Amino acid sequence: MEELHLTAILLLTCTLLLSTQIPVARAVKETRGGSELSELSRELLELAKEPSFFDWLRRIRRSIHENPELAYEEFETSQLIRSELDSLGVEYAWPVAKTGLIASVGSGAQAQPWFALRADMDALRIQELVEWEHKSKIDGKMHACGHDAHVTMLLGAAKLLQGRRHKLKGTVKLVFQPAEEGKAGAYHILKEGGLDNVQGILGLHVWPEIATGTIESRPGPILAGSGRFLVSINGKGEHAAMPHSSKDPVLAASSAILSLQQIISRETDPLEARVITVGFVEAGQAQNVIPEVVRFGGTFRSFTPEGLSNLKQRIREVIEMQVAVHRCSATVDYMEEIMRHYPPTINDRELYEHAKRVGESLLGKSNVHFTPPTMAAEDFSFYSQKIPASFFLIGIYNETIKSGERLHSPRFVIDEEVLPIGAAFHAAVAISYLDVHQKLI
Ligand SMILES: *[C@@H]1O[C@H](CO)[C@@H](O)[C@H](O)[C@H]1NC(C)=O
Repeated sequence: MEELHLTAILLLTCTLLLSTQIPVARAVKETRGGSELSELSRELLELAKEPSFFDWLRRIRRSIHENPELAYEEFETSQLIRSELDSLGVEYAWPVAKTGLIASVGSGAQAQPWFALRADMDALRIQELVEWEHKSKIDGKMHACGHDAHVTMLLGAAKLLQGRRHKLKGTVKLVFQPAEEGKAGAYHILKEGGLDNVQGILGLHVWPEIATGTIESRPGPILAGSGRFLVSINGKGEHAAMPHSSKDPVLAASSAILSLQQIISRETDPLEARVITVGFVEAGQAQNVIPEVVRFGGTFRSFTPEGLSNLKQRIREVIEMQVAVHRCSATVDYMEEIMRHYPPTINDRELYEHAKRVGESLLGKSNVHFTPPTMAAEDFSFYSQKIPASFFLIGIYNETIKSGERLHSPRFVIDEEVLPIGAAFHAAVAISYLDVHQKLI
């Protein structure tokens, strides 16, 4: 907290100093009109859809898919990204946040503005159940959240941008970020200063509920903030036939879990969205033994920081008090060192409007939709706390290949037709952002 305050004060001081000493740089508004934007989008999409470009994208995605790596272990993924960037002649800083890297394309490190595009790199602890030629070769690990496609689309954008580097009116930072799945890679990218001086950032997530060739988003809150908790309830074990000389942690846990849901139904404004879900419970092993210990764990979500801290406090209180009724004791662990809580993801209105306009020029007005917020969470939220940010969902549903399995399913499938679309969208948003915000010094 203190660190953040200090940073904010320093930034403010710097801004004030700059604005009094240097002739103020002025944004040139709307240098790229509607027709120019359509032309840019069309050119980029045509390039990315050329057979050789598309094959290259598919090869990269399949190669990453075959070799999934978990949070902060993305060593080979990182190596693959670096060697592709080397082939393209794109410079990068590495390592950032252990296995991540940040590439730069544009008019030179000093030239403003800077705009960032972000892809996450890590896979999940899931056994792939899809039988296909490029199935995961690592038992128990799978790219079931599409991060293989995210990395590929960003490399595609790197290639498109590099082809126009002399025409860029600023610099594009391509953020290959580790550890989105619960381990807050984005937080560490920011902490290492990876995005200082960046004025806007775009993130894409493949979305199986909408068709390939469509995208959706909304201004303001789009994804919830989220935290996790792990509970251990200690009682006194006994033969099942002698409950009176036990302190039954199973009953205590049952009572606590039921009461947690009443925090939502009785303490939360019904018009405000909050979630508590208990996802696992572990107790004894026999039908006729009262166990010593019960463990359970779950997640809590809200769209406001106040909501999150209130849930965090009440989850602990309710569990401790409920188990005390049953003469047991509990420890509640929020695991914040390894699983930092994610804030809500808030889309900057202006940047959302910009990306939406670009999306419409790329895919047609009828293929860009407004989406309601969801209680899913993303560490892209850390960027959205510090810089104007916009997060878009990009469709991968295709009836022919049945790519409608939900994220994190062992049967998750991607329509690879999304790869050139995502690459072109990334590049078009960045290029037109630089055009609109270029500074005349
Ligand atoms: C759906 O998948 C088929 C088979 O791969 C492909 O030919 C078609 O172009 C895809 N549809 C869209 C809308 O991308």
